This record gives sequence, C-alpha cells and structure tokens, in this order.
Amino acid sequence: MTARTGSVTLVGGGPGDPDLLTVAAVRALAAADVVLFDRLAPAAALAAMAPNARLIDVGKTPGHHPIPQHEIEQLLVSHALAGSRVVRLKGGDPFVFGRGGEEVEACRQAGVPVRIVPGVSSAIAVPAAAGIPVTHRSISRMFTVVSGHAPLSSSELAHLAGLGGTIVILMGILNLPSIATGLVGAGMDPQTPAAIVEQGWTPRQRTTFADLAGIGAQAALAGVVSPAVVVIGEVVRLARGGDDDAAAILAEAAASAASATGSAG
Ligand SMILES: C[S@@+](CC[C@H](N)C(=O)[O-])C[C@H]1O[C@@H](n2cnc3c(N)ncnc32)[C@H](O)[C@@H]1O
Repeated sequence: MTARTGSVTLVGGGPGDPDLLTVAAVRALAAADVVLFDRLAPAAALAAMAPNARLIDVGKTPGHHPIPQHEIEQLLVSHALAGSRVVRLKGGDPFVFGRGGEEVEACRQAGVPVRIVPGVSSAIAVPAAAGIPVTHRSISRMFTVVSGHAPLSSSELAHLAGLGGTIVILMGILNLPSIATGLVGAGMDPQTPAAIVEQGWTPRQRTTFADLAGIGAQAALAGVVSPAVVVIGEVVRLARGGDDDAAAILAEAAASAASATGSAG
C-alpha cells in the first residue's frame, strides 16, 4: 500500500468577513487536515469551516513576525510530505502582497502538489466597503495598487503622480505622510480627494477623508491604524455612506445565518 500524497492549497481568505470567501475556499477548508492561517484571514470562523483540521496560527503583525516566512514554508512542505491536505489561508488574495509566489515555489521545489484558490483582494473590496469604486466611467479608467510598506522612490512617485487614475495603497499607514507629500511634490493636485478605510468588512470599519495635502495629518489626528487601505483619486468623491452600507450588509448576513441555524435546529 502506498502512503497518501499530501498537497498544499493556497487559499485567499478575502478581507476578513467569512461571507467573502469563495465557494472553492469553503470546500478546501472543509477537506483540510491542517490549516496555517494569517492575522488578516477570517480566523474566527475557522473551527467551524475546517472541522477536521489542526489549526496553526502563523499570523504576523506589522513589525512582529512570530513565525519567519522560511519556517512557514517548511511547515507547509513537511505537513504535505507527511500526507496531509494542507490549506494555507491568507488574507485577501494570496498573490497580492501575500508572499504566495514564494510559498508555491517552496512546494514545487519539494515536489509537493500545490494549487491556488484566488481570494477577494482588499485592494478592491475595502474601498468598495466604503462605497468607493476604484474605476468609474469618465472619472478614472485605471487604478494602481502600491505597497506603502517601504517609502516610495522619487521616480515611483513621479510615475504615480503622472498616471491620472486611482492610487490604492496597502500597508501604507506609517509612510502615508511622506507618500502624500511626495505625490504633491511630483505634481499631483494637493486637493485630490483621499480616503483611508480601516478594518474593511468588519464591524470596526471606519473611513477617514481628507484631500491629498491633508491626509497624513488627518490620519494622525484620527489615530488611524493598520490594517487600512488608502485610496487617492477623484473616485473618492463617489463614496456614499459606505461604512453604514457595509455594516448593514454584515448585519443582514448575520441575521440570515441566525435564522438558517434556527430553522435547521
Ligand atoms: C500583507 S498585505 C496583504 C494583502 C492581501 N493579500 C490582499 O489581497 O488583500 C496586508 C494589507 O492589506 C490591507 N488589508 C487587508 N485586509 C484589510 C481590511 N480588512 N481592511 C483594511 N485593509 C486591509 C492593509 O493595507 C494591510 O496592511
């Protein structure tokens, strides 16, 4: 008898609300023997969604990495080689600033079968939670997603400032003042509208608005913290009661889940 071959499935967990998992994600979790999950993945619902799995928290917080990336990759490979169906549950989409490519590479090098289940990326879904479309006919026909984890170079700022579309910044709260000042210095209109959406698609969602020149100071004043998505561009003017809308959608989903549980019981 040959031992069962294990596998790794990289699953995009969306921006935090389990209702934003894909059907493929839910199926992969239900079949998992081991789940390695991140800080921004929808961790609260995991025990119910992956009832047969050993759950391993490898979550990172900004500046504090409890399990180094190479150890996460070793864990994925060793559990799969031992025959487990491993799910690597990541926030948003695994290939958007998620180090998914490195994890795929580690699995391939070890001869472990690996597949990807894409997820709803915060780059689009978190602005949407505040009612902001990243593109809009006649207002913005492109959007650029940027990591603000490290300061942007002057040539990056110049390119971004010249594009004319929507700029979406992930991991950008610490460097926001220098990015905003740099964009104005590179020629962007200081009155370009900007928004910061914290903890999108959670009950703690909050949106802070200012113009580009003032967004750094406004963020400090409001005490904005990560995780948050920054949106810069004319589309921000389209935001309409977004936080309330997202809260209403969440409340409606919770009510219908409760009534389904009630009728099942
Ligand atoms: C390491 S990146 C991972 C991005 C992820 N792979 C994706 O596609 O959304 C983490 C950043 O995503 C953004 N983010 C993820 N989930 C978020 C949420 N629910 N609300 C606000 N920002 C979020 C924040 O900018 C955070 O610092």
